[in-house]
Amino acid sequence: MENFRRVTVFDDKKLLVAHIIDTWRKICAKCIAEQGYMTVALSGGRTPIEAYRALARNAQDLPWKKIHIFFVDERFVSLTHQDSNYAMIRETLLDALSMPNKNIHPVDTNVPEPDVAAQRYEEEMIRHFRLLPGEKPRFDLVVLGLGEDGHTASLFPGDQVLCETERLAMAVLLDTTLHDRITLAIPVINNARHVIFLVEGARKAVALRKVVEEQDMALPASLIEPIDGDLLFLADRDAAGLLSGSISAQ
Ligand code: 6PG
Repeated sequence: MENFRRVTVFDDKKLLVAHIIDTWRKICAKCIAEQGYMTVALSGGRTPIEAYRALARNAQDLPWKKIHIFFVDERFVSLTHQDSNYAMIRETLLDALSMPNKNIHPVDTNVPEPDVAAQRYEEEMIRHFRLLPGEKPRFDLVVLGLGEDGHTASLFPGDQVLCETERLAMAVLLDTTLHDRITLAIPVINNARHVIFLVEGARKAVALRKVVEEQDMALPASLIEPIDGDLLFLADRDAAGLLSGSISAQ
């Protein structure tokens, strides 16, 4: 794949955001022309907030009624909780768009256990994508972030969910003060047509180098390798500060 493990670096956040919107537009146009709809999985975290707000402001003309939104991961909290990815994405993006509710596919966290939420989310993907047993959904676009420890989605270093090959979504029980999570499994992300990592800040520089240039498999983000799709890293200058040769500038 042409962009495999290559990073496009931006000096200006506005350019980075404009690039995401442009990429979203191109993927959307192709998806609508070829299949009549586009299905996207979005991440939480702070990095994509500005891009979501800009999409809400500048991409009202997209055929949102034909776009379906899923969530890369979710915290096991109510969907109105301040730490909910759904709440953040609704507030920054979805509330501004004229999208039917049926196009938005949150992780239902109003259940007793994270594992039940993961099971329900899996059932929602099976229903939406009309999957036969053993099939994986094919998202048209998956937007990912990168943690300082190399996590992406809610796939953390050393967690057993990294080895999952059958399930589509998994509960992630965190032995910390953080909330438990529900995450898409790696084979689902790797089945996408387009995967875009958004990476900002010097704090992420070591992880980005390990993922892009060393392919250090101890970092979950290194396990993201679309089998029949493309992978794009969009980074700011600080996050790309330790890269030696795999960058192109914008
Ligand atoms: C989440 C994410 C997670 C995130 C990274 C980066 O819900 O938090 O899906 O994987 O993308 O932790 O987070 P920041 O963008 O806040 O640095």
